[in-house]
Amino acid sequence: MTIEIVNHTENPVEIRNFDKQRYVDQDYMAREWRRVWQKSWLLAGLVSDVKDPGDYFVFDLGREQILITRTRQGSIQGFYNVCQHRGNRLVTTERGHADTFRCAYHAWTYNIDGELTIVPYEERFARGVPCAERSLRKVHTQTWAGFVFISMDAQPVSLEEYLGPVAAMLAPYRFEHMTLIEDQTVHLECNWKAVVDNFSELYHVDFLHPQHKRMVDCCNDTVHLFDHGHTGLAVPGATVNPRFPVPEQPTDIQTAQLLSLQMNPEDFAGRVMDIRRAVQVRKREIGRSRGMHYEALDDAQLSDVWQYNLFPNVMFSFTPEHLWILRPRPHATDPARCEFDKISLVMFADPELAEQHNNTEIVGPGRDAVSGDGFLPEDYQRPQRDVFSYAAVIAGEKTMTDTIDQDVELLGGVQAGMTSSGFDTTWLNDDEMRIQHFHNQIEVLMAAG
Ligand code: FES
Ligand SMILES: [Fe+2]
Repeated sequence: MTIEIVNHTENPVEIRNFDKQRYVDQDYMAREWRRVWQKSWLLAGLVSDVKDPGDYFVFDLGREQILITRTRQGSIQGFYNVCQHRGNRLVTTERGHADTFRCAYHAWTYNIDGELTIVPYEERFARGVPCAERSLRKVHTQTWAGFVFISMDAQPVSLEEYLGPVAAMLAPYRFEHMTLIEDQTVHLECNWKAVVDNFSELYHVDFLHPQHKRMVDCCNDTVHLFDHGHTGLAVPGATVNPRFPVPEQPTDIQTAQLLSLQMNPEDFAGRVMDIRRAVQVRKREIGRSRGMHYEALDDAQLSDVWQYNLFPNVMFSFTPEHLWILRPRPHATDPARCEFDKISLVMFADPELAEQHNNTEIVGPGRDAVSGDGFLPEDYQRPQRDVFSYAAVIAGEKTMTDTIDQDVELLGGVQAGMTSSGFDTTWLNDDEMRIQHFHNQIEVLMAAG
Protein backbone atom coordinates (compact mmCIF):
# COMPACT_ATOMS: atom_id res chain seq x y z
CA MET A 1 0.00 0.00 0.00
CA THR A 2 1.74 3.13 -1.14
CA ILE A 3 1.01 6.70 -1.96
CA GLU A 4 3.40 7.77 -4.66
CA ILE A 5 4.20 11.49 -4.79
CA VAL A 6 5.49 12.91 -8.06
CA ASN A 7 6.79 16.43 -7.59
CA HIS A 8 6.97 18.25 -10.94
CA THR A 9 8.29 21.42 -9.31
CA GLU A 10 11.86 22.30 -8.37
CA ASN A 11 10.98 22.79 -4.72
CA PRO A 12 10.51 20.13 -2.08
CA VAL A 13 7.12 20.21 -0.39
CA GLU A 14 7.25 19.76 3.33
CA ILE A 15 4.36 19.35 5.66
CA ARG A 16 4.03 22.17 8.18
CA ASN A 17 1.34 23.95 10.10
CA PHE A 18 -0.61 26.93 8.86
CA ASP A 19 -2.88 29.07 10.92
CA LYS A 20 -6.63 29.39 10.63
CA GLN A 21 -6.82 33.14 9.90
CA ARG A 22 -6.97 32.43 6.18
CA TYR A 23 -10.37 30.81 6.65
CA VAL A 24 -12.04 33.25 8.99
CA ASP A 25 -10.47 36.70 8.82
CA GLN A 26 -12.01 39.67 6.96
CA ASP A 27 -8.71 41.46 6.38
CA TYR A 28 -7.12 38.30 5.06
CA MET A 29 -10.08 37.91 2.69
CA ALA A 30 -9.60 41.44 1.34
CA ARG A 31 -5.90 40.83 0.68
CA GLU A 32 -6.65 37.44 -0.80
CA TRP A 33 -8.98 39.11 -3.28
CA ARG A 34 -6.20 41.33 -4.59
CA ARG A 35 -3.34 38.87 -4.41
CA VAL A 36 -4.96 35.58 -5.37
CA TRP A 37 -8.23 36.17 -7.23
CA GLN A 38 -7.11 39.22 -9.18
CA LYS A 39 -3.83 37.51 -10.12
CA SER A 40 -4.88 34.00 -11.17
CA TRP A 41 -6.36 32.42 -14.26
CA LEU A 42 -9.92 31.41 -13.36
CA LEU A 43 -12.23 28.95 -15.05
CA ALA A 44 -15.24 31.10 -15.98
CA GLY A 45 -17.37 28.58 -17.85
CA LEU A 46 -17.86 26.42 -20.91
CA VAL A 47 -17.05 27.29 -24.52
CA SER A 48 -20.28 25.45 -25.41
CA ASP A 49 -22.23 28.27 -23.72
CA VAL A 50 -20.84 30.81 -26.20
CA LYS A 51 -20.98 28.92 -29.47
CA ASP A 52 -22.19 31.69 -31.76
CA PRO A 53 -21.53 35.43 -32.01
CA GLY A 54 -23.83 37.16 -29.51
CA ASP A 55 -23.97 34.21 -27.11
CA TYR A 56 -22.99 35.27 -23.60
CA PHE A 57 -22.85 34.18 -19.99
CA VAL A 58 -22.02 35.88 -16.71
CA PHE A 59 -19.38 34.47 -14.36
CA ASP A 60 -20.04 35.46 -10.77
CA LEU A 61 -17.05 35.60 -8.44
CA GLY A 62 -17.00 37.38 -5.10
CA ARG A 63 -17.52 41.09 -5.66
CA GLU A 64 -17.09 40.80 -9.45
CA GLN A 65 -19.13 39.65 -12.38
CA ILE A 66 -17.44 38.92 -15.69
CA LEU A 67 -19.45 38.99 -18.90
CA ILE A 68 -18.19 36.45 -21.44
CA THR A 69 -19.29 36.94 -25.06
CA ARG A 70 -18.63 35.46 -28.47
CA THR A 71 -17.73 38.51 -30.56
CA ARG A 72 -18.66 39.36 -34.13
CA GLN A 73 -15.26 38.09 -35.25
CA GLY A 74 -15.95 34.80 -33.50
CA SER A 75 -13.47 35.09 -30.65
CA ILE A 76 -14.39 34.74 -26.98
CA GLN A 77 -13.90 37.83 -24.83
CA GLY A 78 -14.50 38.61 -21.17
CA PHE A 79 -15.47 42.05 -19.82
CA TYR A 80 -16.26 43.43 -16.41
CA ASN A 81 -20.05 43.42 -16.32
CA VAL A 82 -20.21 47.13 -15.54
CA CYS A 83 -21.74 50.00 -17.50
CA GLN A 84 -19.19 52.75 -18.07
CA HIS A 85 -21.69 55.57 -17.50
CA ARG A 86 -22.28 55.33 -13.76
CA GLY A 87 -21.28 51.80 -12.97
CA ASN A 88 -24.55 49.90 -13.06
CA ARG A 89 -24.34 46.14 -13.51
CA LEU A 90 -24.96 45.79 -17.23
CA VAL A 91 -26.24 42.28 -17.93
CA THR A 92 -28.66 40.83 -15.40
CA THR A 93 -29.41 37.43 -16.91
CA GLU A 94 -27.06 34.54 -16.36
CA ARG A 95 -26.84 33.36 -19.93
CA GLY A 96 -28.35 33.98 -23.33
CA HIS A 97 -27.99 35.51 -26.76
CA ALA A 98 -27.92 39.23 -27.50
CA ASP A 99 -27.43 41.62 -30.41
CA THR A 100 -26.52 44.42 -28.02
CA PHE A 101 -26.22 44.95 -24.27
CA ARG A 102 -28.37 47.85 -23.11
CA CYS A 103 -28.00 49.27 -19.62
CA ALA A 104 -31.31 49.43 -17.74
CA TYR A 105 -30.43 52.76 -16.13
CA HIS A 106 -29.92 55.32 -18.96
CA ALA A 107 -29.84 52.98 -21.95
CA TRP A 108 -26.18 53.23 -22.86
CA THR A 109 -25.83 50.40 -25.33
CA TYR A 110 -22.82 48.23 -26.17
CA ASN A 111 -22.37 45.83 -29.05
CA ILE A 112 -21.32 42.22 -28.53
CA ASP A 113 -17.69 43.27 -28.91
CA GLY A 114 -18.12 45.50 -25.85
CA GLU A 115 -18.00 48.75 -27.83
CA LEU A 116 -20.20 51.62 -26.70
CA THR A 117 -22.45 52.35 -29.67
CA ILE A 118 -25.48 54.29 -28.38
CA VAL A 119 -25.58 57.11 -25.84
CA PRO A 120 -29.08 58.62 -25.57
CA TYR A 121 -29.22 62.46 -25.72
CA GLU A 122 -25.52 62.61 -26.43
CA GLU A 123 -25.84 66.37 -27.07
CA ARG A 124 -26.37 66.84 -23.33
CA PHE A 125 -22.78 65.84 -22.69
CA ALA A 126 -21.04 69.17 -23.25
CA ARG A 127 -17.69 67.35 -23.23
CA GLY A 128 -19.01 64.71 -25.62
CA VAL A 129 -18.69 61.00 -24.93
CA PRO A 130 -15.41 59.39 -25.99
CA CYS A 131 -17.02 56.10 -26.97
CA ALA A 132 -13.71 54.27 -27.48
CA GLU A 133 -12.63 55.10 -23.93
CA ARG A 134 -16.02 54.16 -22.51
CA SER A 135 -16.21 50.68 -24.01
CA LEU A 136 -16.59 47.77 -21.63
CA ARG A 137 -13.38 47.00 -19.76
CA LYS A 138 -11.77 43.79 -20.90
CA VAL A 139 -10.23 41.01 -18.88
CA HIS A 140 -7.67 38.61 -20.33
CA THR A 141 -9.52 35.69 -21.87
CA GLN A 142 -8.21 32.37 -23.15
CA THR A 143 -9.68 28.95 -23.78
CA TRP A 144 -8.39 25.46 -23.15
CA ALA A 145 -10.07 22.04 -23.52
CA GLY A 146 -13.53 23.53 -24.00
CA PHE A 147 -13.29 25.90 -21.02
CA VAL A 148 -13.17 29.69 -20.89
CA PHE A 149 -10.57 31.13 -18.53
CA ILE A 150 -10.20 34.76 -17.51
CA SER A 151 -7.57 36.70 -15.64
CA MET A 152 -8.05 40.11 -14.04
CA ASP A 153 -4.28 40.56 -13.76
CA ALA A 154 -2.80 43.40 -15.84
CA GLN A 155 -0.14 41.16 -17.38
CA PRO A 156 -0.76 37.51 -16.62
CA VAL A 157 1.48 34.72 -17.85
CA SER A 158 -0.20 32.88 -20.72
CA LEU A 159 -2.76 30.26 -19.76
CA GLU A 160 -0.49 27.70 -21.41
CA GLU A 161 2.36 28.62 -19.12
CA TYR A 162 0.03 28.76 -16.12
CA LEU A 163 -1.26 25.23 -16.70
CA GLY A 164 2.20 23.87 -17.54
CA PRO A 165 2.38 20.08 -17.92
CA VAL A 166 -1.18 19.64 -16.64
CA ALA A 167 -2.63 20.57 -20.05
CA ALA A 168 -0.78 17.78 -21.86
CA MET A 169 -1.55 15.25 -19.13
CA LEU A 170 -5.28 15.87 -19.42
CA ALA A 171 -5.44 16.24 -23.20
CA PRO A 172 -6.16 12.52 -23.92
CA TYR A 173 -9.46 12.86 -22.04
CA ARG A 174 -10.78 15.22 -24.74
CA PHE A 175 -12.88 17.31 -22.34
CA GLU A 176 -13.76 19.63 -25.23
CA HIS A 177 -15.89 16.84 -26.68
CA MET A 178 -17.88 16.27 -23.49
CA THR A 179 -21.43 17.53 -23.02
CA LEU A 180 -22.96 19.29 -20.04
CA ILE A 181 -25.70 17.20 -18.43
CA GLU A 182 -26.17 18.82 -15.01
CA ASP A 183 -25.38 22.23 -13.56
CA GLN A 184 -25.75 22.74 -9.80
CA THR A 185 -24.77 25.36 -7.25
CA VAL A 186 -25.09 25.02 -3.50
CA HIS A 187 -24.64 27.84 -0.98
CA LEU A 188 -22.15 26.67 1.63
CA GLU A 189 -21.34 28.15 5.00
CA CYS A 190 -17.59 27.71 4.85
CA ASN A 191 -14.58 29.39 3.33
CA TRP A 192 -13.87 28.39 -0.29
CA LYS A 193 -10.46 26.98 0.72
CA ALA A 194 -12.10 24.47 3.06
CA VAL A 195 -13.80 23.03 -0.03
CA VAL A 196 -10.51 22.81 -1.95
CA ASP A 197 -8.88 21.18 1.08
CA ASN A 198 -11.69 18.65 1.26
CA PHE A 199 -11.19 17.61 -2.35
CA SER A 200 -7.41 17.45 -2.00
CA GLU A 201 -7.02 14.45 0.27
CA LEU A 202 -8.19 10.85 0.60
CA TYR A 203 -7.51 10.61 4.32
CA HIS A 204 -11.20 11.21 5.09
CA VAL A 205 -12.61 8.79 2.53
CA ASP A 206 -12.60 5.61 4.64
CA PHE A 207 -14.52 7.41 7.38
CA LEU A 208 -16.82 9.90 5.68
CA HIS A 209 -17.42 7.88 2.50
CA PRO A 210 -17.26 4.22 3.56
CA GLN A 211 -19.19 3.32 0.41
CA HIS A 212 -16.06 4.02 -1.63
CA LYS A 213 -14.45 0.77 -0.61
CA ARG A 214 -16.75 -0.86 -3.20
CA MET A 215 -15.27 1.05 -6.14
CA VAL A 216 -11.79 2.53 -5.67
CA ASP A 217 -8.46 1.75 -4.02
CA CYS A 218 -7.57 4.75 -1.88
CA CYS A 219 -4.37 3.06 -0.62
CA ASN A 220 -2.43 2.98 -3.85
CA ASP A 221 -2.89 6.41 -5.33
CA THR A 222 -0.46 8.68 -7.12
CA VAL A 223 -0.20 12.36 -6.22
CA HIS A 224 1.22 14.98 -8.58
CA LEU A 225 2.41 18.45 -7.55
CA PHE A 226 2.88 21.17 -10.16
CA ASP A 227 4.11 24.74 -10.38
CA HIS A 228 1.51 27.50 -9.81
CA GLY A 229 -0.17 25.39 -7.09
CA HIS A 230 -1.91 22.80 -9.28
CA THR A 231 -2.12 19.20 -8.05
CA GLY A 232 -3.23 15.86 -9.44
CA LEU A 233 -4.33 12.48 -8.17
CA ALA A 234 -4.84 9.08 -9.80
CA VAL A 235 -6.87 6.51 -7.86
CA PRO A 236 -7.21 2.91 -9.09
CA GLY A 237 -10.83 2.26 -10.06
CA ALA A 238 -12.97 -0.80 -10.90
CA THR A 239 -11.49 -2.33 -7.77
CA VAL A 240 -11.96 -2.40 -4.00
CA ASN A 241 -10.09 -0.80 -1.13
CA PRO A 242 -7.57 -3.42 0.07
CA ARG A 243 -7.53 -1.85 3.52
CA PHE A 244 -10.81 -3.68 4.07
CA PRO A 245 -11.43 -7.44 3.68
CA VAL A 246 -11.59 -8.23 -0.05
CA PRO A 247 -15.06 -9.60 -0.84
CA GLU A 248 -15.55 -12.97 -2.46
CA GLN A 249 -17.99 -11.64 -5.06
CA PRO A 250 -17.75 -8.47 -7.17
CA THR A 251 -19.32 -5.48 -5.41
CA ASP A 252 -22.52 -3.89 -6.72
CA ILE A 253 -20.47 -1.16 -8.42
CA GLN A 254 -18.12 -3.65 -10.05
CA THR A 255 -21.07 -5.78 -11.13
CA ALA A 256 -22.67 -2.78 -12.84
CA GLN A 257 -19.36 -1.96 -14.56
CA LEU A 258 -18.92 -5.52 -15.78
CA LEU A 259 -22.48 -5.77 -17.08
CA SER A 260 -22.17 -2.47 -18.91
CA LEU A 261 -19.16 -3.97 -20.70
CA GLN A 262 -21.05 -7.21 -21.39
CA MET A 263 -18.91 -9.22 -19.04
CA ASN A 264 -20.18 -11.86 -16.64
CA PRO A 265 -19.73 -10.93 -12.95
CA GLU A 266 -19.86 -14.62 -12.00
CA ASP A 267 -16.57 -15.15 -13.84
CA PHE A 268 -14.94 -13.02 -11.15
CA ALA A 269 -16.12 -14.90 -8.06
CA GLY A 270 -13.04 -15.15 -5.84
CA ARG A 271 -11.09 -12.93 -8.28
CA VAL A 272 -12.30 -9.47 -7.40
CA MET A 273 -8.81 -8.00 -7.63
CA ASP A 274 -8.62 -9.08 -11.31
CA ILE A 275 -11.56 -6.92 -12.36
CA ARG A 276 -9.63 -3.68 -12.85
CA ARG A 277 -7.33 -5.24 -15.42
CA ALA A 278 -10.23 -7.03 -17.14
CA VAL A 279 -12.11 -3.74 -17.47
CA GLN A 280 -9.07 -2.12 -19.07
CA VAL A 281 -8.70 -4.94 -21.60
CA ARG A 282 -12.39 -4.97 -22.41
CA LYS A 283 -12.65 -1.22 -22.92
CA ARG A 284 -9.69 -1.36 -25.27
CA GLU A 285 -11.38 -4.20 -27.14
CA ILE A 286 -14.80 -2.66 -27.64
CA GLY A 287 -14.13 1.07 -27.32
CA ARG A 288 -14.20 1.87 -31.01
CA SER A 289 -17.35 -0.14 -31.62
CA ARG A 290 -19.04 2.01 -28.99
CA GLY A 291 -17.80 5.23 -30.49
CA MET A 292 -15.39 5.93 -27.64
CA HIS A 293 -11.96 7.43 -28.35
CA TYR A 294 -9.81 5.54 -25.90
CA GLU A 295 -6.76 5.43 -28.16
CA ALA A 296 -4.72 8.16 -26.47
CA LEU A 297 -5.46 6.90 -22.94
CA ASP A 298 -3.19 4.33 -21.28
CA ASP A 299 -4.62 1.20 -19.67
CA ALA A 300 -4.68 2.63 -16.16
CA GLN A 301 -6.62 5.65 -17.36
CA LEU A 302 -9.33 3.35 -18.76
CA SER A 303 -10.21 2.10 -15.29
CA ASP A 304 -9.04 4.76 -12.86
CA VAL A 305 -10.43 7.96 -11.42
CA TRP A 306 -8.32 11.08 -11.76
CA GLN A 307 -8.74 14.28 -9.87
CA TYR A 308 -6.80 17.38 -10.90
CA ASN A 309 -7.03 20.68 -9.07
CA LEU A 310 -6.28 23.83 -11.00
CA PHE A 311 -5.21 26.60 -8.67
CA PRO A 312 -6.97 28.33 -7.12
CA ASN A 313 -10.46 26.88 -7.09
CA VAL A 314 -11.20 24.29 -9.76
CA MET A 315 -11.28 20.56 -9.13
CA PHE A 316 -11.72 18.23 -12.09
CA SER A 317 -12.81 14.71 -11.10
CA PHE A 318 -13.00 12.40 -14.11
CA THR A 319 -12.84 9.12 -15.95
CA PRO A 320 -12.75 8.70 -19.74
CA GLU A 321 -16.54 8.81 -19.76
CA HIS A 322 -17.38 11.61 -17.35
CA LEU A 323 -16.13 14.83 -15.78
CA TRP A 324 -17.24 16.73 -12.74
CA ILE A 325 -16.05 20.30 -12.39
CA LEU A 326 -16.17 21.18 -8.71
CA ARG A 327 -15.69 24.89 -8.19
CA PRO A 328 -16.09 26.86 -4.96
CA ARG A 329 -16.44 30.60 -5.55
CA PRO A 330 -15.78 33.06 -2.74
CA HIS A 331 -18.57 35.15 -1.26
CA ALA A 332 -18.39 38.91 -1.90
CA THR A 333 -17.90 39.88 1.74
CA ASP A 334 -18.09 36.91 4.11
CA PRO A 335 -15.06 34.59 4.52
CA ALA A 336 -17.36 32.00 6.09
CA ARG A 337 -19.50 31.55 2.97
CA CYS A 338 -19.01 30.40 -0.60
CA GLU A 339 -20.90 29.18 -3.64
CA PHE A 340 -20.01 25.65 -4.70
CA ASP A 341 -20.67 24.55 -8.27
CA LYS A 342 -20.86 21.00 -9.52
CA ILE A 343 -20.87 20.97 -13.29
CA SER A 344 -21.31 17.48 -14.76
CA LEU A 345 -20.30 16.50 -18.28
CA VAL A 346 -20.30 13.16 -20.08
CA MET A 347 -18.66 11.83 -23.18
CA PHE A 348 -21.33 10.76 -25.63
CA ALA A 349 -20.36 8.28 -28.32
CA ASP A 350 -18.87 9.59 -31.54
CA PRO A 351 -21.28 8.40 -34.25
CA GLU A 352 -18.63 8.47 -36.96
CA LEU A 353 -16.27 6.25 -35.03
CA ALA A 354 -19.06 3.86 -34.14
CA GLU A 355 -20.29 3.86 -37.73
CA GLN A 356 -17.02 2.35 -38.86
CA HIS A 357 -17.70 -0.57 -36.53
CA ASN A 358 -21.46 -0.87 -36.63
CA ASN A 359 -21.48 -4.37 -38.02
CA THR A 360 -19.37 -5.68 -35.20
CA GLU A 361 -20.90 -8.36 -33.06
CA ILE A 362 -20.05 -6.52 -29.89
CA VAL A 363 -23.24 -4.67 -29.06
CA GLY A 364 -24.90 -4.13 -25.74
CA PRO A 365 -26.38 -1.74 -23.27
CA GLY A 366 -25.10 1.78 -22.82
CA ARG A 367 -22.92 3.20 -25.52
CA ASP A 368 -23.96 0.92 -28.30
CA ALA A 369 -23.10 1.58 -31.91
CA VAL A 370 -26.12 -0.30 -33.22
CA SER A 371 -28.97 0.82 -30.99
CA GLY A 372 -27.69 4.38 -30.77
CA ASP A 373 -27.99 4.44 -26.99
CA GLY A 374 -25.47 6.81 -25.55
CA PHE A 375 -25.31 9.15 -28.49
CA LEU A 376 -25.99 12.82 -27.95
CA PRO A 377 -29.77 13.15 -28.29
CA GLU A 378 -30.98 15.38 -31.10
CA ASP A 379 -33.25 17.32 -28.76
CA TYR A 380 -30.41 18.02 -26.31
CA GLN A 381 -31.02 21.22 -24.36
CA ARG A 382 -28.50 22.75 -22.05
CA PRO A 383 -29.75 22.05 -18.50
CA GLN A 384 -30.70 25.06 -16.39
CA ARG A 385 -28.54 25.73 -13.35
CA ASP A 386 -30.13 24.52 -10.14
CA VAL A 387 -29.24 26.69 -7.13
CA PHE A 388 -30.03 25.59 -3.59
CA SER A 389 -28.97 25.81 0.04
CA TYR A 390 -26.88 23.24 1.86
CA ALA A 391 -29.88 22.80 4.16
CA ALA A 392 -31.77 21.40 1.16
CA VAL A 393 -29.01 18.83 0.71
CA ILE A 394 -29.07 17.85 4.39
CA ALA A 395 -32.87 17.57 4.25
CA GLY A 396 -32.55 15.23 1.28
CA GLU A 397 -34.45 17.60 -1.03
CA LYS A 398 -31.42 18.03 -3.30
CA THR A 399 -28.50 15.77 -4.04
CA MET A 400 -25.09 16.21 -5.64
CA THR A 401 -24.38 12.43 -5.30
CA ASP A 402 -24.11 10.60 -1.97
CA THR A 403 -20.41 11.36 -1.69
CA ILE A 404 -20.61 15.10 -2.23
CA ASP A 405 -23.71 15.32 -0.03
CA GLN A 406 -21.60 13.83 2.76
CA ASP A 407 -18.89 16.44 2.14
CA VAL A 408 -21.42 19.29 2.01
CA GLU A 409 -22.99 18.18 5.27
CA LEU A 410 -19.59 18.12 6.96
CA LEU A 411 -18.10 21.39 5.73
CA GLY A 412 -20.27 23.69 7.84
CA GLY A 413 -18.87 21.96 10.90
CA VAL A 414 -15.29 22.56 9.76
CA GLN A 415 -15.89 26.29 9.41
CA ALA A 416 -17.71 26.47 12.72
CA GLY A 417 -14.85 24.66 14.45
CA MET A 418 -12.24 26.93 12.91
CA THR A 419 -13.81 29.99 14.47
CA SER A 420 -13.38 28.44 17.91
CA SER A 421 -10.75 29.80 20.32
CA GLY A 422 -9.84 26.17 20.83
CA PHE A 423 -8.24 25.84 17.40
CA ASP A 424 -5.20 27.66 15.97
CA THR A 425 -3.35 25.68 13.34
CA THR A 426 -3.76 22.65 11.11
CA TRP A 427 -1.73 19.48 11.59
CA LEU A 428 -1.45 17.72 8.24
CA ASN A 429 -0.21 14.23 7.35
CA ASP A 430 1.60 13.04 4.21
CA ASP A 431 -1.70 12.01 2.65
CA GLU A 432 -2.66 15.71 2.77
CA MET A 433 0.32 16.83 0.69
CA ARG A 434 -1.91 18.38 -1.96
CA ILE A 435 -3.47 20.64 0.67
CA GLN A 436 0.00 21.74 1.71
CA HIS A 437 1.00 22.45 -1.88
CA PHE A 438 -2.17 24.48 -2.48
CA HIS A 439 -1.60 26.56 0.65
CA ASN A 440 2.07 27.07 -0.18
CA GLN A 441 1.01 28.72 -3.43
CA ILE A 442 -1.55 30.84 -1.56
CA GLU A 443 1.27 31.98 0.72
CA VAL A 444 3.58 32.78 -2.20
CA LEU A 445 0.91 35.02 -3.73
CA MET A 446 -0.10 36.60 -0.43
CA ALA A 447 3.52 37.51 0.25
CA ALA A 448 4.04 38.94 -3.23
CA GLY A 449 1.87 41.99 -2.49
S1 FES B 1 -25.33 53.58 -15.53
FE1 FES B 1 -25.58 52.55 -17.39
S2 FES B 1 -26.49 54.01 -18.68
FE2 FES B 1 -26.25 55.05 -16.82
FE1 LIG C 1 -15.15 13.73 0.49
